[in-house]
Amino acid sequence: MTTTAPTSLRPSTSIYLSGNFAPVREELTVFDLEVTGSIPEGLNGRLLRIGPNPVADPDPNTYHWFSGNGMVHGVRLRDGRAEWYRNRYVADDTVTAALGRPTTPGPRHGMGSGVANTNVIGHAGTTFAIVEAGGLPVELTYDLDTISMSDFAGTLPGSFTAHPKLDPATGELHAVVYYWEWDYLQYVVVGADGRVTKTVDVPVPGKPMTHDCSITESQVLIFDQAVTFDLELAMTGRGLPYRWDPDYGCRVGVLSRQATDGVATVWCDVDLSYVYHPLNAYDLADGRVVVDVAKHPRMFDRDPLGPNDGPPTLWRWTVDPAAGRVHEELLDDRGQEFPRHDERLVGRPHRYGYTAAFRGDAELGPAYKHDLVARTSQTHDYGPGRVTLEPVFVPVDDDAAEDDGWVMSYVYDAATDRSDVVILHAQDFEAEPVATIHLPTRVPFGFHGNWIPD
Ligand SMILES: [Fe+2]
Repeated sequence: MTTTAPTSLRPSTSIYLSGNFAPVREELTVFDLEVTGSIPEGLNGRLLRIGPNPVADPDPNTYHWFSGNGMVHGVRLRDGRAEWYRNRYVADDTVTAALGRPTTPGPRHGMGSGVANTNVIGHAGTTFAIVEAGGLPVELTYDLDTISMSDFAGTLPGSFTAHPKLDPATGELHAVVYYWEWDYLQYVVVGADGRVTKTVDVPVPGKPMTHDCSITESQVLIFDQAVTFDLELAMTGRGLPYRWDPDYGCRVGVLSRQATDGVATVWCDVDLSYVYHPLNAYDLADGRVVVDVAKHPRMFDRDPLGPNDGPPTLWRWTVDPAAGRVHEELLDDRGQEFPRHDERLVGRPHRYGYTAAFRGDAELGPAYKHDLVARTSQTHDYGPGRVTLEPVFVPVDDDAAEDDGWVMSYVYDAATDRSDVVILHAQDFEAEPVATIHLPTRVPFGFHGNWIPD
């Protein structure tokens, strides 16, 4: 385990500008990629991902990993071929100014330059780069060029998030968003047509950083945790002016998806920690809610410039609104993050989950498959010096069993300083990959991505 050093003794240079955290500078378009193995014929679409890629060299003493300009990377698959790889800056106002490009049209929200660097999704026929804390979604073309900033056709009142949850039954996106000027979190529902249909303000006692949320078939889970806005940090120009705030405490809010008033949220205390990412959540018959989470022991305490406060581990939280408490159970004590699952089961009971190794000091490694019923796990080791980013699960078809599908991820190879897209079969997780698609560049360690079928 890591220990906490007094603030004055901490190294203050970002580790998020070296190695494969460092930005790439070229925007590439490369056709007909080299493939080892066979790409499944049924995979027609794009595997996209995004992360921070500062367009100009930032000050390494203050650069926060979460603040870099967005760059989206994509591989397009069709009929067993890897047709192209593209990477493009998301054209926020800093990017367009630095590169001498026309200003991106569309609305703006709050201060800042409109950076969108955290997730990339397909919704309502559009590709969006998305981010939390005040930035608006950015519409991209199929080929990943920026079109405009978006407030969902004027229907989004303020902030959005990098982690909306797509309800497979309704096609709606459910999100919990925050903004430093607000004394509330906001539950936002975006319809299948890409327009906001509902917002509910949820009062909270401070200004927490709320990265993600969960839904069940009946509830939305709201994470109100001990990382809060710090005006003094903001005045210094810190890219992400949020700090560890243990006095604030940690709680999970349970709110009916039908609610129209956030005061109805039932808050359930949980021990001090920080969760960016739930794996999935579901209702129990007795009114409790299960949510599996990747849990960090602290956040921005030892290292104020990124998530480097001891390895995150996999836990099951059983949230009991009647008792106002959360029961915690450790599922896997290995360092891991970026949990994913079969998204046909968002809000419904899941058996399987997939994570990427994420140890102390932001060290990456293999992928893990978890069987959360049998309580077993498998490891896919990508080979010496090869480490995976977030693994994305794609079922072989709509009716496939929960783990009958592909686990797709961008894998960095330190020996060649390039990346591959690697496709595994989830039911043969430890076997050699089904396909390895060789990219002409490296894809920096970043945040999230998705398979967006055509
Ligand atoms: Fe995230």
